[in-house]
Amino acid sequence: MTDRSALTAALTRARDRTLRLVDLDDAELCRQPDPLMSPLVWDLAHIGQQEEFWLLRGGDPQTPGLLPPAVDGLYDAFAHPRADRGALPLLAPGRARRYLQVVRERAVDALAALPADDDGFVFAMVLSHEHQHDETMLVALNLRAGPPLVGPGAPPPPGRPGVAGTAVTVPAGPFVLGVDAADEPHALDNERPAHVVEVPGFRIGRVPVTNGQWRAFIDDDGYRRREFWSPAGWAHRCRAGLTAPQFWQPGGTRTRFGHREPIPDDEPVMHVSFFEAQAYAAWAGARLPTEIEWEKACAWDPGSGTRRRYPWGELPPTAEHANLGGTALAPAPVGSYPAGASAYGAEQLLGDVWEWTTSPLRPWPGFTPMIYQRYSAPFFGGDYRVLRGGSWAVHPDILRPSFRNWDHPIRRQIFAGLRLAWDL
Ligand code: AVJ
Ligand code: FE
Repeated sequence: MTDRSALTAALTRARDRTLRLVDLDDAELCRQPDPLMSPLVWDLAHIGQQEEFWLLRGGDPQTPGLLPPAVDGLYDAFAHPRADRGALPLLAPGRARRYLQVVRERAVDALAALPADDDGFVFAMVLSHEHQHDETMLVALNLRAGPPLVGPGAPPPPGRPGVAGTAVTVPAGPFVLGVDAADEPHALDNERPAHVVEVPGFRIGRVPVTNGQWRAFIDDDGYRRREFWSPAGWAHRCRAGLTAPQFWQPGGTRTRFGHREPIPDDEPVMHVSFFEAQAYAAWAGARLPTEIEWEKACAWDPGSGTRRRYPWGELPPTAEHANLGGTALAPAPVGSYPAGASAYGAEQLLGDVWEWTTSPLRPWPGFTPMIYQRYSAPFFGGDYRVLRGGSWAVHPDILRPSFRNWDHPIRRQIFAGLRLAWDL
C-alpha cells in the first residue's frame, strides 16, 4: 500500500533541503544565534539521531546505535533545553554530516525491505521531523545578525487589492474534524481520529491580517490600551516592553535574514505572539478562530459533505496554490493565491504564515500515541496554543489541513501571524 519510491524521493528532497540550510562554515554552524534557538549543528545531528532511533533502532533505547550512548544522549531534546545546547560537546559539523549519511543509507535499505503491507508511517514521521527541524533552522537563521546567509528564491505572485479585511461565512453545521489512517496514512497522532463535531456558524478572514492593518493597530495605541489585552497578555506585554512585531523598527523597516527592508503593507503580519494576536483581534472587534473552526473553513466541502484533501481539492500544492517550501523566505501578499481558496472561499490557509488559534493543545477524543510517544502527549495541557496552516517555511510533502503545530503564547520568533474570526 505504500508508495516506497515516493517516500524515498521525499526523504531525498528533505535531505537536500537540510544540507542547503547548513551549507555554512563550521564556526557559523556551532554558534548559538540566540538562547532561544539551538546551534544549527545540534539540529543537524538531532535529525540523524532521530532517524536512526526510529528507523534503525525501532525506537528502543536498549538497541545499540552508531553513536556512543553519551553522545547519542546529547540529542535528546527533553534532556537538554535549547539555551544549554551551545555548551554541549556536540559532534563537529563534518562528523555530523557523515553520521547523517550513514544513517540515511541504512534507512533507505530498511525502506526497500519494508513488508508490502506496511504503510511506511514511521518513515513519513521521520520525514516530517526532518522538515520541521528545517523550519526551526530557518527561524534560527532569521534571528542572526550580520550579512545574509540565505538568498530568497523566485518572488511570490502579486496580491489582489481589496481582499485584506474581507471575510467569508461558514454556516452552522457538523463536519468531520481530524483524519483517519485510512484517508491519511501519514497523519501524526494528534491529527487522529476523524470524528464529527457540530460547529456554530461563524465568519473568518478571507486572508490573514496584514502588516498595513497591524500598523493601524499600533497607530491607534493598541499596544498601550489595556482594554484589548487579556490579563496574562498585558502582564507579558509590560514585562517584555512590546510595542510592535519582532524585527520591526520605528520608521517602517524590518530586519529579515540579515536584510533591512521596508515593511510591505499587503503582506501577512509575522512575528507576533499569541498575546499580541489576541489583542489585535479585540481591537478589530473580532476574535481568533478556534482550531476547529479553522479546520472546517480549510477542509470541509459543504456541497459534498466530505473533507477535501487540500483546501482547493485533491491535487497536491503547486506554486499556484500556496507559498510553501521555504525558498521565498517571506509570506506572499494577501490575494496571491485565488486558486488555493477553500470551499468557503478562504485563501492562503496553507503556507505564508502559521495562524494562531485560541485553542490550547488537547488530544482529540480517542487519541492514541504513535511510536514517538513524546511527540504530542507531553505538551497536552500546558500553556501551548495551537497554530494552523503552516508558514512559507513548511515543506508541502508534510502539510495537511489537519496538521497541528503549537507553541507558548509569548513566542514571536516563529513565522506566525493570524486570521480573524467573528460569531455570526
Ligand atoms: C510540533 C513544531 C512544536 O519543534 O517543538 C521536533 C516538532 N518535535 N522534534 C517542535 C518537533 C520533536 C515540534 N513542533
Ligand atoms: Fe526533534
